[in-house]
Amino acid sequence: MPKAHCSTLRLTPGHLREEGLPSAEGGTVVLLANLTELARELAHLLEVVSTDELLYAQSLCESVRNQVICSRALLRFLLGQQLAVDAASLRFACGPHGKPELIGHQLAFNTSRSDDTFAVALASRGQVGVDVEKFRPISGYEEITRGFLRNEAPIVFSGPEERRHRSFLRIWTCKEAVVKAIGLGLTAPLNGFAVSLDPPAITPLQPEFNRHWSLETVIDGDVVLAAAVAL
Ligand SMILES: CC(C)(COP(=O)(O)OP(=O)(O)OC[C@H]1O[C@@H](n2cnc3c(N)ncnc32)[C@H](O)[C@@H]1OP(=O)(O)O)[C@@H](O)C(=O)NCCC(=O)NCCS
Repeated sequence: MPKAHCSTLRLTPGHLREEGLPSAEGGTVVLLANLTELARELAHLLEVVSTDELLYAQSLCESVRNQVICSRALLRFLLGQQLAVDAASLRFACGPHGKPELIGHQLAFNTSRSDDTFAVALASRGQVGVDVEKFRPISGYEEITRGFLRNEAPIVFSGPEERRHRSFLRIWTCKEAVVKAIGLGLTAPLNGFAVSLDPPAITPLQPEFNRHWSLETVIDGDVVLAAAVAL
């Protein structure tokens, strides 16, 4: 079976004003946004956010509230553009482990946020998962690797300390993207599949991961992102 084609684009203010966005038709697109840089454009999109989404955001601590509202507005805008429908009219359902999906449309999507960096993956075929992280030292990464990234430990534990932290985050984003694609999130057994990076690939080791996988990893400045598609 052919792999799902995946392309990544960093959104600029122009994309939210007049420039055409890439279509997910026939493949997968990942859109990466800095919510602070896009604040002015996002302010014009906020009216598409539903009352439920606003109430949810209000239940969160103040430091993340605005980012969550902006990310919901941006998600609705991107989905609305992709489907050529009114962004405010989109409705969502939630899977048993919390994965949101569109009601009444085939387009699959997934989102991830790290501070003010927000990623949206849109896929016309299969199930998609995305994870984004800011590069930073992760305390306890050795224990996490020995527990949950056993297949990838040789990659994480090679090279100098700084490279190990980066390798850890690259692997971790791939792991999260995979378990988010199948909707299980971190309830899935992370050692049930193996990630390789050069080139990015998934090897299923347990039945729940027996799918045709496409994996993309992107490093963009201080951000690392992975998107996984299961066909
Ligand atoms: C999904 C999960 C991996 C997210 O991890 P994270 O690094 O904290 O967050 P990210 O920013 O990468 O992703 C968050 C987004 O993933 C999506 N998401 C939530 N649950 C998901 C799931 N099971 N599978 C895929 N995507 C999911 C949502 O869109 C969420 O955005 P929101 O918080 O604005 O609603 C983690 O929360 C998890 O494992 N959840 C499942 C655990 C469970 O069973 N919970 C029961 C709740 S019903």
